[in-house]
Amino acid sequence: MRFDTLETQNGELKTTFPMTSENEAAVSAAVAKLYDTYPFPPEPLIDEPPPGYNWRWHWPSAYNFCTGRAPSSNAVSILDAGCGSGVGTEYLVHLNPEAQVTGIDLSAGTLDVARERCQRSGADRATFHQLSIYDVEQLEGQFDLINCVGVLHHMPDPIKGIQALATKLAPGGLLHIFVYAALGRWEISLMQQAIAMLQGERQGDYRDGVHIGRQLFNALPETNRIVKRDKERWALENHQDECFADMYVHPQEVDYTIDTLFELIDASGLDFVGFSNPRYWDLNRLVGESDDVMERAQNLSDRQRYRLIELLDPELTHYEFFLSRPPLPQFDWSNDESVLTAVPSRHACMSGWPAKSFFDYDYQLATVTEAEYDFLSRCAEPGETEAQTVAALIADTEFTLDQVRSLQRRQLTVLSPMLPSHS
Ligand SMILES: C[S@@+](CC[C@H](N)C(=O)[O-])C[C@H]1O[C@@H](n2cnc3c(N)ncnc32)[C@H](O)[C@@H]1O
Repeated sequence: MRFDTLETQNGELKTTFPMTSENEAAVSAAVAKLYDTYPFPPEPLIDEPPPGYNWRWHWPSAYNFCTGRAPSSNAVSILDAGCGSGVGTEYLVHLNPEAQVTGIDLSAGTLDVARERCQRSGADRATFHQLSIYDVEQLEGQFDLINCVGVLHHMPDPIKGIQALATKLAPGGLLHIFVYAALGRWEISLMQQAIAMLQGERQGDYRDGVHIGRQLFNALPETNRIVKRDKERWALENHQDECFADMYVHPQEVDYTIDTLFELIDASGLDFVGFSNPRYWDLNRLVGESDDVMERAQNLSDRQRYRLIELLDPELTHYEFFLSRPPLPQFDWSNDESVLTAVPSRHACMSGWPAKSFFDYDYQLATVTEAEYDFLSRCAEPGETEAQTVAALIADTEFTLDQVRSLQRRQLTVLSPMLPSHS
């Protein structure tokens, strides 16, 4: 018999009832009913490709972020596990023109929206199945990229869920996960419990939950901490009932801390590559002013350092990260010869290019020098096949290999190594 142990907000451990397959099925049915009632996310359906990009859904960018180099092929197979109303799936199709994309979800109602969304915007390389992540082995083959955003924390047994996904990840493949963090969702968790108490036997009636939840928010004083947090952080989204229900009336949610997150990751049997929002995880950002603190922190393991960061900056509402199935080669480009023989292309996720100031892959303002601008202008366009090596591009210029490396580190240039098999 297995007991589930969760860490509560104040750091205490609490043991919950063991999950049996019957109550697992009941919880999954309740989750499907929520999303049949309120398909999520409720983004409008449009008749053209969605605007902008999210580099995590662009295979070459995700691969470059995780390995330091361009992938050897873009004709990959992608799974959107728990695809919801297809917002991410639609991007996965449009951003990866050579990929085959599969979306699965528990909720038939939500899948109807996903199908219509993709059909209307011309994302015709997506196929959808009403299938639980627990049953993902029923899909054929393995996937190079699995995207699982906002799903595992709604499963009654997230460990079983991540293990099922791990079996479908191809060697060298990437699994991108987003799950909730407890620290920044404390007020949400309190409100969820309050609404559940007031619903009593009506729990599972999600429209009633939204109705009473909204009454509760209206009744509480403006100075109330839960109300203030909702206004500051969530109000823009939560005027839509789908978002309010997803946040406050959910039948199943597990919130993680760094310790429980790494229990989940370790159980997957995959390698942790890194967080896909690395700026948050930079301790320097918080305490870089103090040499003493930074020096002490050098003695910490990576996981201890992550824990220190979340303790010091408890605004954190989610974790997002990549796992990989080895072998996943890492390139550091320290060898001059490999940089010289590499083929550089401009990063595909740049908004405002061509200009010396633009938004980078992560929508951060980037400014390049005249010489960098010139180099970037002469790099191959993303996806271009006939392209010149770094050596050819910098011949007769003062541009140095370190400047090329700097563009590569800032993810403005993507380098393809010139290997015998180009793999
Ligand atoms: C919060 S939504 C996220 C949707 C989408 N991934 C996104 O981020 O836009 C969670 C989705 O996971 C689905 N889901 C929950 N448990 C699942 C399971 N065991 N297998 C497949 N889908 C599941 C729900 O039906 C719902 O559509």
